[in-house]
Amino acid sequence: MAGKHIVILGPPGSGKGTQAVRIAEKLDLRHISTGDVLRDAVNRETKLGLEASDYMNRGLLVPDELMLGLIAEKLAEIGDSGWILDGYPRTLPQAEALGGMLAEQDMRIDHVLLIDVDSEVIVKRLSERRVCSKCKAVYSLSTLESPDEACRKCGGELVKRPDDEEDTVRRRLKVYEEQTAPVVDYYRNGGLVTVKGAGGIDKITAEILRVLQ
Ligand code: AP5
Ligand code: MG
Repeated sequence: MAGKHIVILGPPGSGKGTQAVRIAEKLDLRHISTGDVLRDAVNRETKLGLEASDYMNRGLLVPDELMLGLIAEKLAEIGDSGWILDGYPRTLPQAEALGGMLAEQDMRIDHVLLIDVDSEVIVKRLSERRVCSKCKAVYSLSTLESPDEACRKCGGELVKRPDDEEDTVRRRLKVYEEQTAPVVDYYRNGGLVTVKGAGGIDKITAEILRVLQ
């Protein structure tokens, strides 16, 4: 049987990636993070990466026409399996396009989750985030034994994301309010569920799994 189709929404640093990895593992879903796909394209200097990098470094959204192509390609690649979308949709045209693509295949979104966290908590969290330069695992300085610790999964070097500098984080939060908050409203009548994103990571995962039942 085909798996669930879940969209996870929330401001930068709310824990979308952290929770999506866990939910995907638990429910046997494919995790699609558009941010990860874009960062990979930037590193490999593909056409998409070259077009996207300037927007990303400035904390702005990559234009919809590029994102629609990317998501169509990913969904086609995944086929019938269930998925959790992290970082898409982020604008109303993206949400409408996703609905259209799914309807064409007689599919629909089963759950839309919103992770809700205060802006000041986010600024602090993102100043402490470190990401594995090899396998992309996400850490926080607050839980590492030392700032020089290597990735616990693959031994790779842990680095700060270029868009995690405070000025850029504040711009990303503003962009979220202006362009992505309307997407939250768009799904309010379509079964949106809000989960508090402050508190222990395990507790939040348990709460998400509870509301998905
Ligand atoms: P993207 O990579 O999606 O960034 P984002 O949405 O800004 O979200 P983040 O990845 O920064 O945060 P997160 O919510 O995943 O939090 P995480 O789990 O890492 O996008 C990057 C850029 O790509 C965009 O700015 C844009 O340019 C472009 N882009 C991507 N998608 C696009 C689209 N659809 N359209 C246009 N442009 C697009 O957690 C953060 C930190 O907090 C970590 O250190 C983690 O360990 C820690 N943490 C997590 N949970 C907790 C907790 N409960 N308590 C304490 N610490 C916690
Ligand atoms: Mg993320």
